[in-house]
Amino acid sequence: MFERPRGTNDWGPEEMAKRRFVESRFIQLAESFGFREVSTPAFESLDLFTAKSGPGIVKELYAFKDQGGRDLALRPEFTASILRFYVSSLRSRPKPLKLYTSGNAFRYEEPQRGRYREFSQLNAEIIGGAALPSDAEALALAIGTMRAIGLKQVKARIGNIGILRSYLPFPPADQGVVLHSLDKRNFPMLEAELARLGRRDLASPLRKVIELSGDASVLDDAAKILGAAAKEGLAYLRDLAGLLDDYGIRRSDYAFDMGVVRGLDYYTGMVFEIDSPNLGAEKQVGGGGAYRLAEVFGGEAVAQTGFALGLDRLVMSAEAERTIEPPRPLDAYVVPVGDGSRKKAIQILTSLRAAGLGADIDLIGRGPSKNLDYANAISARFVVILGERELKQGRATLREMANGVQREIAIEDLVDAVRDA
Ligand code: HAM
Repeated sequence: MFERPRGTNDWGPEEMAKRRFVESRFIQLAESFGFREVSTPAFESLDLFTAKSGPGIVKELYAFKDQGGRDLALRPEFTASILRFYVSSLRSRPKPLKLYTSGNAFRYEEPQRGRYREFSQLNAEIIGGAALPSDAEALALAIGTMRAIGLKQVKARIGNIGILRSYLPFPPADQGVVLHSLDKRNFPMLEAELARLGRRDLASPLRKVIELSGDASVLDDAAKILGAAAKEGLAYLRDLAGLLDDYGIRRSDYAFDMGVVRGLDYYTGMVFEIDSPNLGAEKQVGGGGAYRLAEVFGGEAVAQTGFALGLDRLVMSAEAERTIEPPRPLDAYVVPVGDGSRKKAIQILTSLRAAGLGADIDLIGRGPSKNLDYANAISARFVVILGERELKQGRATLREMANGVQREIAIEDLVDAVRDA
C-alpha cells in the first residue's frame, strides 16, 4: 500500500465536480472581461523564483537538480512564469495583455486544512495597461469571481505597498526585510532591523499605520501618521475607490487596509487580499496587486498587476455557503435484457450520446433489478430497458427514476423523450 505524499490530495468525482464548478465560473468571467488563457510549465529554472519572489517563497520551494545537473523548482505560483513568458515571447503583442491561467502550484509548507503542498490557483495578470484602470479591472475580476461563485461573504482588503516603500528610505534589500517583518507582524524583528538601519524612530509610526483598516477615512489617518511621503499613494487609493464605484463594487465588499504587505517581494503599488470569513485559520482566498517583474527579467518597464485566488479555499467557502450547483446527472442508463438485445442497446446508446445526452450502458450483464439499483446509485434520470420481446416490436421501456413511472415507447422516439423530459 502506498500513501499520498504529505500535503497532497486525491479528489474524487464529487469533489472534482465542485472544483470544476468554481473554476468554470472564474474562466467564464475572465473570458467575458477579455482575458485569454495561457499555460506555462509546472517546473522552471530555480533562479526564476529566487530572482525576486523573496524569502517568503524561496524557503518554501520544491527545488531539485535534474539528471543533467540543472537547478529547477516546481512553480510556487504563476506570476513569475507568466512574466518570463511575456518577456521572452509576448512582448510585441498589442497592449494591454490580459492573461489568465488555472493550475496547480507547489509550496513546502506545514500542511493543515486549506493549506497544502500541492494546491491550485486561478490566476490573472494585466500587462501594459495604465496602472490605475488596470488595478481596478483586476480587482473587479477578483471580487466578481467571488460573486459569480455565489459567495456572499466577500471582504477584500486593499492597501498600497508603494506607500510603505516610499516611507522606508533604504535600498530595496533592506526595505524587503522591513516589509517582511511587517507582513509577519514580527515586531521584535522589525525593531531590530530598524535599529540596524539607524532608524528606530520609524517603528512606532509603521506599527500604527499597519493597524489602520476601514473605510476611506483611514486614508486620512494614514496621511496624518506618514506625512508627505504617503500623499501620492493615498490619493491613488481614493481614485481607485472611485473606479470601483463605477464598476458597481459595493463599498461593503472591501476595506482599505494599510497593513496589507503581501508575502511576495515583487509588489510595488496597490496590493490586496481577499478573505472568506467562514474559513477559519486559512481564510485568505486570494491576493494580488501591482508589481514589477518584467524589468527584473530583462523586459521594459510596463505596468503589471494581477491576482491569484486559491481554488482549494474557494471551494471550501462555496461549500460552507452552499453555493455549488450539482453537476448534470446522467440522462439515460441503457439496460439490455438478454444477449440478443445488446447489439440494439449499443446502437441506442450511441444515438443518445450523438444527441448530446449523457448515456451509459450495463457493462457487467446484471439482471434488470440489480441494474435499476445501480442506475439509482449513479442518479441516472432515465433507464432504458430493452427486452427481446419489446425490441421485436421496435419498442423499449423508459423508466423515469425520480417517480418510478414506466412506459413503453417506440425506439425512434427515445432520444426526444429523454431530451425533452
Ligand atoms: P499568494 O497570496 O501567495 O499570491 O497566493 C494566492 C492564493 O493562493 C492565497 O490567497 C491562497 O488562497 C492560495 N494559496 C497559497 N498557498 C496555498 C497553499 N499552500 N494551500 C492552499 N492554497 C494556497 C500569489 O501567488 C501571487 N502570484 C498572486 C498574484 C498574481 N499577484 C500578482 N499576480
